[in-house]
Amino acid sequence: MVFPEGVSIDSSTGHVSPETGRYTKRLSELRGIFHDRTALEEAVAVRGDPIVYEVVEYKKEGSDIFFGTTTVEPGVVGNEYYMTRGHFHARRDMAEVYYTQHGSGVLLLKSRAGETAVVEMKRGVCAFIPPDWAHRSINTGKDKLVFVWVGNVAAGHDYGDILEKGMSKRVLLREGVANIVDDA
Ligand code: F6R
Ligand code: ZN
Repeated sequence: MVFPEGVSIDSSTGHVSPETGRYTKRLSELRGIFHDRTALEEAVAVRGDPIVYEVVEYKKEGSDIFFGTTTVEPGVVGNEYYMTRGHFHARRDMAEVYYTQHGSGVLLLKSRAGETAVVEMKRGVCAFIPPDWAHRSINTGKDKLVFVWVGNVAAGHDYGDILEKGMSKRVLLREGVANIVDDA
């Protein structure tokens, strides 16, 4: 039997209470994600391999949905903003929502057919991620980017396609502002 429960989410830190799991991703674990490999190695060495993002989840056995937060730190590797790996769901029929709580950024999406889309991430915007659209969150602001995600426990992750082919677009810092450019 699963009982109802209120879960506190701190919108500025991403803390979830109670939580059932968490992980962090550091720069050294994101090799192959950022386009400037030299800048990545330099940043790992000079900055002491900082955390780029943290994921905290609330999942209860017996439920078909779960939720949690992702907190992406502000920063760049070369001229590319800190971001998540990006993935398709293993289950192609399963959607997700991302509800931004704090900070600002870009949600980059790519369909299986290769179309791309962009949804602005800022407080109050709840993004609908349709089934079979890959998604990556990019922090283009000076604060932490915090969003709540809600998905299906069976959705799973497929990272291979994005690792191999990328998201078709990148979000780069140019002359002080974020630019969305084609990934040649
Ligand atoms: C789950 C989901 C998020 C991401 C998280 C980290 O389907 O979309 O919880 O997993 O934001 O991003 P990735 O998994 O792309 O490193
Ligand atoms: Zn997802």
